[in-house]
Amino acid sequence: MTDQHDVDMSWDDFDELRDPRPNENQFDAVVDAAISRRGFLGGALAFGSGAAVFGTGLFSSTTAARAGGHGKFAFEPIDIATDFAVHVPEGYKSKVLVRWGDALWSEAEGAYDPETGVSVEMSDKVFGENTDGMELFEVDGKEVITVNSEYVNPKINLPAASEGIPQNADEVKLLKNLQGVTVMEIAKADEGYVVVKDSPLNRRITHETEMALEGPLAGHALVQTNADPEGKTVKGTMNNCGSGRTLWNTYLTCEENFNGYFGATGKMPEGEGYTRYGIGGEGRYAYEKFDPRYDISNEPNEPHRHGFVTEINPADPTSTPKKRTALGRFKHENASMVHAKDGRVVVYMGDDERGEYLYKFVSNGVWEEGTDGGDLLNDGTLYVAKFNDDLSGEWLALTPETTGMDAAEILCFTRMAASAAGGTTMDRPEWVASNPVKVESYCALTNNKNRGVKPNAGGDDTAVNGPNPRETNNYGQIVRWMPANENHADTAFTWDLYVMAGNPTVYENEYAGSSNVNAGNMFNSPDGMVFDSTGMLWIQTDGDYKNEGEFAGMGNNQMLVGDPETGEILRFMTVPYGAEVTGLCWSVDKKVAFVGVQHPGGQWPDGAGKPRSSVVAVWREDGAVIG
Ligand code: FEO
Ligand code: CA
Ligand code: CA
Repeated sequence: MTDQHDVDMSWDDFDELRDPRPNENQFDAVVDAAISRRGFLGGALAFGSGAAVFGTGLFSSTTAARAGGHGKFAFEPIDIATDFAVHVPEGYKSKVLVRWGDALWSEAEGAYDPETGVSVEMSDKVFGENTDGMELFEVDGKEVITVNSEYVNPKINLPAASEGIPQNADEVKLLKNLQGVTVMEIAKADEGYVVVKDSPLNRRITHETEMALEGPLAGHALVQTNADPEGKTVKGTMNNCGSGRTLWNTYLTCEENFNGYFGATGKMPEGEGYTRYGIGGEGRYAYEKFDPRYDISNEPNEPHRHGFVTEINPADPTSTPKKRTALGRFKHENASMVHAKDGRVVVYMGDDERGEYLYKFVSNGVWEEGTDGGDLLNDGTLYVAKFNDDLSGEWLALTPETTGMDAAEILCFTRMAASAAGGTTMDRPEWVASNPVKVESYCALTNNKNRGVKPNAGGDDTAVNGPNPRETNNYGQIVRWMPANENHADTAFTWDLYVMAGNPTVYENEYAGSSNVNAGNMFNSPDGMVFDSTGMLWIQTDGDYKNEGEFAGMGNNQMLVGDPETGEILRFMTVPYGAEVTGLCWSVDKKVAFVGVQHPGGQWPDGAGKPRSSVVAVWREDGAVIG
């Protein structure tokens, strides 16, 4: 296996390998000017003035955090774990709802084999692999859950002889089918919930599902291909990471590391439009060798048709998913939609790569409660966030005037537009979550080992900046912003850091973390993030789980609950060794939480055969509401 085919690499490492730092380009002059204007504070200084950077109330006694079980936290926090199990607080129970390979229709009953996994014939009739973002909808009194399957583990799915690299078109098809989105009806059972097999609402959406390209980029020459000369009909969605939901109850699935599926068997098309997105050379999974759609020597525009937020109607299994190009093209983590005070809809979105940006879309049209949003997401303005060191910030509109690019180029090569406009490079923006009881939003900046070490992908300098104040940032932080005039559509905001993850048992400097981190609640690499209906922030991690060195005492990945008002954070759940915890939603009555457990190690949850990524139901034994 070559480096380029190292299927064991994390996506983060793959980015590092395949994404050369930007070459000298037409935007450099603009970026240089932005840097000199910016005049960022140094790391020590920025942290030293942390009392200003951190929200109020975060410097209270850390021992109070261990008390728990009262106030807004309806549980006693749990200890770290290093085993191959799921742990929840006393008084709570958990049970697997669905595993990779479980049948969605009767014909796929028994499709999963502990030794071989799932056959290609059954691969689009079962729950996909590597569960990620999810949302729950009520459809005609039924509960429907929509779940992303982010990617596949080729070594687990393919015959051992293949060493994780597909050897024929069938093996490519197998890997493609186990990604995408699962829509399935679920129903209450004696304990937790069960999947309703054969429900007419059940649906699998994969790399092969036909979808409509919508918005200003649809039909443009940049998205025309041999198979689709009109540039309006696209096959599939891929690498579906985090999620979102519209105010009108449709699902938003976010296409993240789409670049890894494309490769060149011959001449490679050139330009920053490829290099900035990490597209080129051999694909990560060799799809291009067996499916010409993924061969950029053959179809140089096919990668321009992925990397979007895609809207799916969970109530209609025959509906055509819509790729919303107006929300930009980048490695979309998730999408947090809010209703602005002035009636427009706003969608906050992170681009998960070191040194990329935080964005928001603001619709031109307004939405009225109780109505269908229709194509509101086709028409609006895209902005990139600029954070100032004085805790103010502004959303910079990406327009031909601010970027030197035309409207279609801005949406196709959004990263370059954001660099040109002068956005603030971030430490890998993961999920954005918006508080339902206060006008504020949060973004998990998971980590950035290259901060202050190498130039940022965004073409920025190598230095720290306000919301990303630590060099070699292996722990991550959560930034939050409060829009001016309590209007999410306003272009001005103020910001602070909700938490800086760290290890106070190893460090006494800024790597100890902010004062709301202590030996009893420490964690690294915040990633998934969702607010519950009461305004408590649920934080999920995807970090180092070796429990040694600078991560000693943090254990396996975990889910914590944070109080936005006091800064208190308590550990609620731990997942099996090797797994990340990602994706969270609640039953309609809010008595059951559904939590995603991705890429577990060992043989979880079956205790035999292969490890199986799964969605877990969690509830209180006394039947009370938990979110
Ligand atoms: Fe798919 Fe950035 O996590
Ligand atoms: Ca993630
Ligand atoms: Ca992550």
